[in-house]
Amino acid sequence: MKQLILGTVQLGLDYGINNKKGKPSSEKAFDILNTAHDNGINLVDTASAYGDSEKIIGNFIKDTKKNFKISTKIPKLNFDKDILEQVKISFENSINNLKVSVIEYYLFHNFNDLVLKPETIDYLCKLKSEGVINNIGVSIYDVPELELILKEYKDLINFIQIPFNIFDQRWIKGNLLENAKEAGIEIGARSVYLQGLFFADKRKMDKIHSKTFYYVSKLNELCKLKNISKEEALFSYVKEQLFIDYILIGCENKEQLEQNIKIFNKEVKFTNIERECICNNFSDIEKDIIDPRRWKY
Ligand SMILES: NC(=O)c1ccc[n+]([C@@H]2O[C@H](COP(=O)([O-])OP(=O)(O)OC[C@H]3O[C@@H](n4cnc5c(N)ncnc54)[C@H](OP(=O)(O)O)[C@@H]3O)[C@@H](O)[C@H]2O)c1
Repeated sequence: MKQLILGTVQLGLDYGINNKKGKPSSEKAFDILNTAHDNGINLVDTASAYGDSEKIIGNFIKDTKKNFKISTKIPKLNFDKDILEQVKISFENSINNLKVSVIEYYLFHNFNDLVLKPETIDYLCKLKSEGVINNIGVSIYDVPELELILKEYKDLINFIQIPFNIFDQRWIKGNLLENAKEAGIEIGARSVYLQGLFFADKRKMDKIHSKTFYYVSKLNELCKLKNISKEEALFSYVKEQLFIDYILIGCENKEQLEQNIKIFNKEVKFTNIERECICNNFSDIEKDIIDPRRWKY
């Protein structure tokens, strides 16, 4: 059974391609967290790089006494400075901001920090043996990163967070996710809505890539034929993936969260013909579209 994780970059930064209002006020951020908690979401994803997101979550936990398990991330390390000192300070800051004593998932935000600075993973293993973090994870963007994790780090890494959506099917070519599961690694999927790109206007889509609108139109046609909303199609596609344990959802207000929870709980299944159509239309989409780090808008 897949679980939802509340993504909270939206609580600490102006985030998302269609974002007009900026980050929500503390009151509205509390509404989002309350809605998540009241609907049984017990894990939130944050990072020290997400503005004051960690502090907002910590204040919420302190004020309401409503608890969440936490997934947070080490910021990109500065290789010119003392590496272990940075990891140590970052961990202490996160614990203080979040007002928790244990971090459920502690992630490398930057894959290269895991690979190029091996002392960091040793330090995280020490934190794990002390019981102050429960799982070590990595946030990744590309397939070769997962291949390397499976080759070199599968005994040390417990969790990976990958971008995954109907336009980003790179991960299901071959047995990568299956192999990760066999190695005991849990998998969280983010970017189900591609930061909102699926709902952007044509002008914005064209700025990202000349073919974005074409692909989104194909998706719209599929939704019309199946008589489902685009949100339902996007969620159902990720929900159908056998090896994904968690789906992250990022929201700017509690209404979006309520809508997403409703969609998540709805049973929508694709037929084999629809799956074939999804594969034919969307399995090789340009990297400039599926990787938000390349966007200019
Ligand atoms: N490297 C990393 O580790 C990394 C990177 C990115 C994100 N994350 C994590 O993943 C979480 C999710 O971020 P994401 O990039 O994956 O975003 P996403 O979930 O693909 O998209 C979220 C955006 O979609 C829009 N949206 C949400 N619900 C909607 C609805 N029902 N109808 C229409 N639009 C809706 C909102 O933007 P608008 O209202 O502006 O359209 C929202 O900001 C973040 O909060 C963060 O915790 C991690």
